[in-house]
Amino acid sequence: MYTLNAESLNFAYEPGSDVLRGVNASVIGGRITGLVGPNGSGKSTLLRLLCGFLQPNSGTVKLDGRPLVSLSAAERARTLAFLPQMVDPVFSLTVFEVVCLGRYPYTGMIGSLRSHDLEVVARCLQDTETEPLRHREFGSLSGGERQRVLLASILAQEPKLMLLDEPTSSLDIHHEVEVFELLARLARQGYGIAVVTHDLNLAAQYCEELLLLSADHSVLASGKPEEVFTEALLSTAYAASIRVGKHPFTGAPFVAAQSTRETPP
Ligand SMILES: Nc1ncnc2c1ncn2[C@@H]1O[C@H](COP(=O)(O)OP(=O)(O)O)[C@@H](O)[C@H]1O
Ligand SMILES: [Mg+2]
Repeated sequence: MYTLNAESLNFAYEPGSDVLRGVNASVIGGRITGLVGPNGSGKSTLLRLLCGFLQPNSGTVKLDGRPLVSLSAAERARTLAFLPQMVDPVFSLTVFEVVCLGRYPYTGMIGSLRSHDLEVVARCLQDTETEPLRHREFGSLSGGERQRVLLASILAQEPKLMLLDEPTSSLDIHHEVEVFELLARLARQGYGIAVVTHDLNLAAQYCEELLLLSADHSVLASGKPEEVFTEALLSTAYAASIRVGKHPFTGAPFVAAQSTRETPP
């Protein structure tokens, strides 16, 4: 199983305005790690550093003990996949073609798909419930449909570690739960997954490990959901009055925010 380890990451897009400070994070095979925190706290930036799209100002990112920068592009693509937060459809491709693009680490950009590749693509369309959309043009899809197709494309890459930036932000509750169930199945198969999400309740339910970033761009807490999702830590992180109960079915922490402007009922 693969492990991605980030140690003491510091990063700034512009000198003097830190976006990450002293951040430690790991993505471990067999596990879902949730990255949570307020808007602008640096979650997307952290994923970009973890997949090597950005280089830290200091600190290291290592894949199984090897610096990420020492891996070839092909090696990285077969191991690590990144689903960005927003993708504009600048090209006109069908859903099937977008998912086939995920096979490029195995076929090369102009390589042809063999029957095994087509089987993988078919399975990924099934797993994300995008099979009925296969002939549609990607640009004509709704935001939620696009998210599921892009996830299918990432899955077709068969990476060992997946870094997913808000993969369920536009999904209805059915598809959101299905995506988390799919991630849980993949984790049981040995995949390592890091997922950025604002759905704290699903994060508490599905993630073995959570990393809570705060508005000052450092890690406020990390650990198991019960350790990280306390009223004190969440209220500090989100500058809101947060209450934590128990999920009615699973017993996981269940998070609700109260307005700071009104007296609660
Ligand atoms: N390409 C960029 N250039 C300059 N600043 C950026 C860029 N991307 C993000 N930022 C800034 O870095 C901070 C963290 O952004 P981001 O990592 O996207 O946060 P999050 O994903 O937690 O909302 C924000 O203040 C954001 O405005
Ligand atoms: Mg983001």
